[in-house]
Formats: sequence, C-alpha cells, structure tokens
Amino acid sequence: MAVLNWASSRTDTLSPGTTALLVITTWLLYVTGLAEFYYEYRYGGKYIFEIEQMHKEFVHDLHQQQRKPFDLFFSHMSINTRYWPMLADKALFLESRIQEYKAQGKAMRLDRAFSAFSADCIEGICTDDLKPGDGFLYQPDFGPEWYDGLLGLIRNAPIGEWTAWLSRTVHRHPRLTNYSSLGYIPQRLLLWLFPQGHIANKYDERTRTQIHKAVTQQHLSKDDSSEHIALFQALAQSNLSPADKTEERLVKEAKLIFLGGTISTGRTLGFVSYYILSRPYIKARLGGELRDVMTAWPEVVPTWIELEKLPYLQAVIKEALRLTYGFMRRLPRVSPDVAIQYKEYTIPPGTPLGMNAYLMHSNPEVYQDPDQFAPERWLAEDTKTMQRSYVTFTKGSRSCLGQDLSMAEISLVPAVLFRPDGPGMELFETDESDVKHVHNFVVPLPKFDSLGVRVMVR
Ligand code: HEM
Repeated sequence: MAVLNWASSRTDTLSPGTTALLVITTWLLYVTGLAEFYYEYRYGGKYIFEIEQMHKEFVHDLHQQQRKPFDLFFSHMSINTRYWPMLADKALFLESRIQEYKAQGKAMRLDRAFSAFSADCIEGICTDDLKPGDGFLYQPDFGPEWYDGLLGLIRNAPIGEWTAWLSRTVHRHPRLTNYSSLGYIPQRLLLWLFPQGHIANKYDERTRTQIHKAVTQQHLSKDDSSEHIALFQALAQSNLSPADKTEERLVKEAKLIFLGGTISTGRTLGFVSYYILSRPYIKARLGGELRDVMTAWPEVVPTWIELEKLPYLQAVIKEALRLTYGFMRRLPRVSPDVAIQYKEYTIPPGTPLGMNAYLMHSNPEVYQDPDQFAPERWLAEDTKTMQRSYVTFTKGSRSCLGQDLSMAEISLVPAVLFRPDGPGMELFETDESDVKHVHNFVVPLPKFDSLGVRVMVR
C-alpha cells in the first residue's frame, strides 16, 4: 500500500507507464499474497523486514537514481570548471546591454534583465541547439512578454495546484489529445483560466523541440567527452531506465529545470541589487571589496573560488537569499515508517511534516530584527544558529539541484555590476515595496502593481 500511495503521489515525476506498471504489479502482489508468501517461506518469516526496508529505500533510492545524471552537471566542480566561462560571457553581455540604456536615457528593469540572464545560463547548460542571437538577453527590453508571462504563471500557480487532479484524469483519456504544454490541462480550459498561457506554450514548444532533437539525434561519437555534451543530450544517452527517458518525462524535467533555473535566481539578483543601490554604505563597502579582484575585468575574469572568498559579497548574497526565502510555503516531508521524536513530542510515521522557510527566516530568536536587510549579521563570529535555520535551498536529498549554479550567478553578476568602475546605476521610482514579498505563491512575490526594480544608467 505504501508503494501505491507513493506512486499516486509522484505521478508528476513518474511516467504514466511506470505509474500504471507499479500500480498493477503492486495490486497483483497484494491480491495474490505472492510477495508475502515468497519472503515468509523462502527466507523464513522475513516479510515484515522486507517491507520495512522497502519503505526506507524505495522512494529515496528512485529519486537519487533519477537525480544522479543531473548532479554531474550541477555540482560545484562542474559549475566552477565547465560553466564558469559561459557564465562570465553572459555576464559581460548583460553588462553591455545595460550600457545601451545609458545612451537611450530611459529607465530599465533590472529584474527582467536578470531573469533573462538566468534563463540564458540554464539554457546554455541544457542544450547546444542554440543559434547566435537566441536567448532572452538579446531581446528588446529583455523580453517583456515572456517575463510577464512567467510572473503570470507564478500568480496562477494555485490554479495549477488545484487542477492537478483534473490534469491527471484527462491525461489518461486517450481521446483527449489537445493538451496544453503547461501540463495536462486541456488547452481551452487553461487559456480561459490563464490567458497568458499562450506565451508559456510558445516556450514549452521550444523545450519540446530541443528534447526531441536530443532524443532522436543521439549523435555523440565515441570521441566526444561528457565535458562538451549538453544536459538534454546527456540525459537522452544516460543509463536512466527507458521509462525515465521518455520524451514526455524529459520534457517535464526540462520545464522544471528552466523554471527553477530562471525564477528564483533572477528574483534574488533583483532583490540584492535593490538593497545595494538603495544603501550607499553597502554599495561602498562592496565596491571596496571587489576592487582588486575585478580590476582587470573583463580581460581577467576572477574565478568563482575568488568570489566565494569575499566575505562581504557572500554576506550580502546570503542576506538576500534569507529574505527571498526560496519557497515561501511549507514543503512537506513524510517519514514513512519511523516515528520522529521532537523534544517531548512523538510524531507518528506517515504524518506529513513541513516547516516554512519564511517563518524560519523571520524568527527573531535566531535573526535579530529579522525584517532588516543586514548583511553584517553573517559576519559575526558565531553564525551557527543562523546557519542551522537557513533553508533557502532546503537541505538533504531533496534540496535544490541548482544551488551551486545559482550561487555562481548571484556571485558573478553583482561583482560585475557593482565593481568600482561598473555601470553607473541609480534606482528609478523604485522602493522597498517593489522587492518585499507580500504574496505567497510557489515562490514569493512583491505587490502586484510593482513595476519592477528600475534603474537609470548614467
Ligand atoms: C536562488 C535560486 C534558487 C532557489 C532559492 C531555489 C530553491 C529551491 C528549493 C527550496 C527547492 C526544494 C523544493 C522541494 O523541496 O520540493 C529546489 C528544488 C529544485 N531546484 Fe532550485 N532554487 C534556486 C535555483 C535553481 C536553479 C538555478 C536550478 C537549475 C538547475 C534549480 C532547479 C531545481 C530543481 C530541479 C529542484 C528539484 C530537486 C529535486 O527534487 O531533487 N533551482 N530549489
């Protein structure tokens, strides 16, 4: 039954085929009593222990197995060696696009530019199927239609969550073929609920095409090293099980990675830039710290390790990540078999438990004046208690896959833009209410009528 429950709760990551197979097999074993008989008879009364072990391992192992090929691409070492030059190229291009606004004398939206940057970085890792000029950083004003569509998508997340049961049901019906690429929700219903859906569909189509190419044109020769292979192609050629490599499943993974790789990183960059630009003492101290390491940019690109060693830069980033929370809502976890002891409370197995990053990061017993953007708190001698409560990327086996990628981006972009001779930017009609989160969707958002983090480039 545990497997049945698990399978039904993971229909988002398992292919329909795998789910059906699991359900049928489990049902057969359950009804015939075959599994029980086998373990009781063959191993002498060991069924109960086998069940216990399955509970412990199955969900965890499958997730670890599915995640393994991704980990190679998103490890600290991989970002540091393989992708750092690509990130630096994109940061340089971002800077040049920002400089264009100086000549134009009009306000620009940093939050949109940063999302374009993050989206292009993740796309650069996922596929080599990009033509020159592809990418959001090339678009006029960094693609307002796409960016607003993305925000619309976040704001409509409750619809997606609420209709999850519906999408699963209609997906199983063979005659209903006109599905939105946003999930399995019929196109017309979705567009009625969410008019910007056509924008998401447009970019979904792009992902589908990239995955299709990766799956059908597996042109990796023996000489190609995994150093140069794009993620989608590596996945298509990986030793994931065939069920884990269907086009449909890879498209779902790709969408998760694109969204994950774009939204939170772009948003954090906008958030941190607001505080750097609105607090002259932060800007001055950061600029001073960056002076040496960025002195010959772009001819000499600092390494990520060098940026990681800058205490104030890292404190500023950490404070921004604390106050952007990652996910603002609870992320429940279940201990399937073992009771959890918390102080005098025993939480029975199977009870969903979730803590909320927003509440943890706002705890005044851990973070003094928790609402204040105060990077200095991370420079204190003892930060152990704060570190323990800091869960922006969550912790453990389900933690963020892209943590190192986003830390690299969030270190590099401020280093480039806020170095002493970086582009001169001043906030334009932007205040704290444009970044402070007052809405809790899948990710937190500021007020709906915010016009973003806008700057004039001088
Ligand atoms: C500031 C930036 C980011 C933040 C705050 C963030 C936060 C998170 C959090 C809290 C989770 C756990 C969700 C859960 O427990 O259900 C997560 C998972 C995930 N994130 Fe991120 N993320 C960021 C950037 C990225 C980037 C750049 C990528 C691109 C690869 C990414 C891809 C993912 C994926 C694929 C998962 C699911 C991991 C799994 O289930 O094994 N994220 N992220």
